[in-house]
Amino acid sequence: MFRLPVALLLISALILLHCRPASAEYQAPGLITDQAMVVSAHPLATEAGVAVLREGGHAVDAAVTVQFALAVVLPWAGNIGGGGFMVVREADGDIYSLDFREKAPLAATRDMYLDSLGEVVPARSWRGHLAAGVPGSVAGMFAAHDSLGRLPMARLIQPAIDLAEGGFPLTRLEAESLNGRLEAIRTYSTQPSGYTAQQTWAEGDILRLPALAATLRRIRDAGAAGFYAGETADLIVAEMARGGGLISHQDLLDYEAVWRTPVEGSYRGYKVIGMPPPSSGGIALLQLLQSVEDHGFSRWHSPADVHRMVEAERRVYADRAQHLGDPDYWPVPRPGLLDPAYNRARMADFDPRRATPSDSIAAGNPAAESEQTTHFSVVDAEGNAVSLTTTLNGGYGSCVVVGGAGFFLNNEMDDFSAKPGVPNAYGLVGAEANAVAPGKRMLSSMTPTIVTRGDSLFMVVGTPGGSTIITSVFQTILNVVEYDFSMQGAVSAPRFHHQWRPDLIQYESGSWSELDSSALARRGHAFRSRSSIGRVDAILVRPDGRLEGGADPRGDDTAGGF
Ligand code: GLY
Repeated sequence: MFRLPVALLLISALILLHCRPASAEYQAPGLITDQAMVVSAHPLATEAGVAVLREGGHAVDAAVTVQFALAVVLPWAGNIGGGGFMVVREADGDIYSLDFREKAPLAATRDMYLDSLGEVVPARSWRGHLAAGVPGSVAGMFAAHDSLGRLPMARLIQPAIDLAEGGFPLTRLEAESLNGRLEAIRTYSTQPSGYTAQQTWAEGDILRLPALAATLRRIRDAGAAGFYAGETADLIVAEMARGGGLISHQDLLDYEAVWRTPVEGSYRGYKVIGMPPPSSGGIALLQLLQSVEDHGFSRWHSPADVHRMVEAERRVYADRAQHLGDPDYWPVPRPGLLDPAYNRARMADFDPRRATPSDSIAAGNPAAESEQTTHFSVVDAEGNAVSLTTTLNGGYGSCVVVGGAGFFLNNEMDDFSAKPGVPNAYGLVGAEANAVAPGKRMLSSMTPTIVTRGDSLFMVVGTPGGSTIITSVFQTILNVVEYDFSMQGAVSAPRFHHQWRPDLIQYESGSWSELDSSALARRGHAFRSRSSIGRVDAILVRPDGRLEGGADPRGDDTAGGF
């Protein structure tokens, strides 16, 4: 007689256990403000951006200030010698995406990273002068400001000049990271710089960068020409001559940032707006979301949920390797890859009990057509939003400081596929779509993203992390939408990553219990634990209209606002 109620109780308990019980730890909110917010990788950059917003600046104005400030205070990734992508949504619903990705120099050749036997020489695309693409960041900031900015450019650049001139105290993370790279910077740079002014650096040491301040003043006074022409261009070309690099005056004069049509798609009633190629981020993120959309999520990082997400990831990264590249050079099958029916079909052979070996997965046939990056998110007092990811590629890029100009050059050339099927520094493989060609942009994983619900802004999100960028943004969105985490909780929660090849799940400690890990292993998954994955900086619009920041505790990331 008592058996039925007891069984019912047990079943209810089981259902409760599996019905998205977001752990309380990840539901606690981060900073909440009423009107405007910046979340970036450095407190001084956040502070500079918030000051611009207080003066009535547009989110793009604040983004410009944060980008230039990060070029000083976050030397491993912030930059004027690199590139990036910006997604903008204005309060009236207009959306834009700006490509300021680096380009291969005109003298680049398809096989420039191969030796005489046709084998890849990995160091050549990773360190030193040949690793550098033509920088896009300065052109990008001027293009964005010309179209959408409000405050004078001189005002927006000044905080960076002041920081470079007066110096700023290094955080513990920065001192450690700079010390770890000093030998390489000394090896690959042809002249001393502010970064090499001390033998080693400690937390609190003041880093002064007078040469960078002078370069920033030339940019302030002459506009983009202060970088792509005149003294700065001469210094870059002289650096190339000393170190055997390829970037020429013509490369610099030719460089232009490009406004592209953002990718858009939906996920359970949310609209996701992202970056089109040459970033793979927007397309791959939407493919991932479409691949799991029909899935009933149960519990955060439950074996069933992780298994489904990993199976989606291996299929999407196989497509990435085959189909994505610079759309000005390669016919990217964009509509086909973004077709929900295509992504559903890609999951048709999904087995909920078994991992599919990556060797048995190839790219699909859609209908034709550094780790050390940094991301920041901005919402201004009117509701305009900017999601911007920028990079030198590896930490401190090529480790080449332009002599006399004080900034690092990127090593973005490594994002090309040096040889089909041979992995780059992130273990990513590529093919013809992403082969080196003069003037071509290398494929990126950067995924600056804006999510809306109905007509309203919902989330601004992005992260560094090389190949893990796409899956980190994927998980952050799911953490909020499917598991009811706060923005801060969604950012703080441990992450995992699968990219087709190598065929294993990389994961942060704390990702799952022993029990869940055994359940995943029984399905046939292999694992590798690793240090932090990504540094997500995001902003969520709460139901009451206030903003919540998610600043990644893995770094010095900070939310600020009013
Ligand atoms: N350099 C990393 C990326 O663009 O994906």
